[in-house]
Amino acid sequence: MNASLSTTAVQIAPSVLSADFAHLGRDVAAVERGGADLIHVDVMDGHFVPNITIGVPVVKSLASVATRPLDVHLMIEQPDRFIDDFARAGAAMISVHVETVPHLQRTLALIRSTGALAGAVLTPSTPAIALEDVLDDLDFVLVMSVNPGFSGQSFIPNSLDKLRRVADLLARSRRPIPIEIDGGVVLDNIGQVVEAGARIIVAGNAVYGAPDPAAAVAALRAAGTVALPR
Ligand code: DX5
Ligand code: ZN
Repeated sequence: MNASLSTTAVQIAPSVLSADFAHLGRDVAAVERGGADLIHVDVMDGHFVPNITIGVPVVKSLASVATRPLDVHLMIEQPDRFIDDFARAGAAMISVHVETVPHLQRTLALIRSTGALAGAVLTPSTPAIALEDVLDDLDFVLVMSVNPGFSGQSFIPNSLDKLRRVADLLARSRRPIPIEIDGGVVLDNIGQVVEAGARIIVAGNAVYGAPDPAAAVAALRAAGTVALPR
C-alpha cells in the first residue's frame, strides 16, 4: 500500500512499539478505528540502539492485517542490507538514520528504487544541515525528539528549535517535504511540534498507554490540527 504524505495536514502515526506484541493485529485495528494515517514500526538491532525489537517477518505479518501504510523506522547498523527485504515485506515508507550510513544519497536512492518513500532520520545531536545536499533524494525527514531506543521517554525541549531549523532547510527544496517527529509527543506538546513544522506525528505511549487508543489518536489529531498555520 502506498503512503500519501502531506505538508499541509497533520497525520498521526501510532508506534506499535508500545502495543501488546502478543496482540499486534488487534492493536493495529484499534488505532485504525481511531483514524490513524500510518502505522509506525520501530526496528532496532541492539547495536545502533540499546534495544532489540522486531524484524522483517513481523513487518510482513503487520502488512497482511494493516489497512494503513507501514512507516518503517530503521534503527540498525548497515541498513542497506535490509532495505529490499523490508520493502518486499510491505513497508510503504522506510527511514534510515544518517548516523548509520556513510553514503546517505545512495541509501535514499536504494529505498526509492524499491518503490517505498525514502526518509532520513536525525537523532537529537545530529544537525539539520546534514541533509542540505540530499534534499532531492528525500520524501520525508524524521526528527527524533528523544534518543532512539525506547518508547515512553520525555520530549527533549531543544527539538522544537531543531524542527524549525529543519523546516527552514526544507523550504529550500523544489518540492514540499514533510517532517515527521518521533519521541515523547503527547497531547500537551503536539500543538507545539506542529507549530514548529512537524506534520507526521509518531506517538507510542500517548496512544497505547491511554485507556482507549482509538480515542487517543483522534484527540492527538484534533489537538495537532488546531495548531496548523491558517
Ligand atoms: C523510539 C522510537 C519511537 C517510540 C516512540 O526510539 O523510535 O517511535 O516508539 O514512543 P513514544 O511516543 O512513547 O516516545
Ligand atoms: Zn520510531
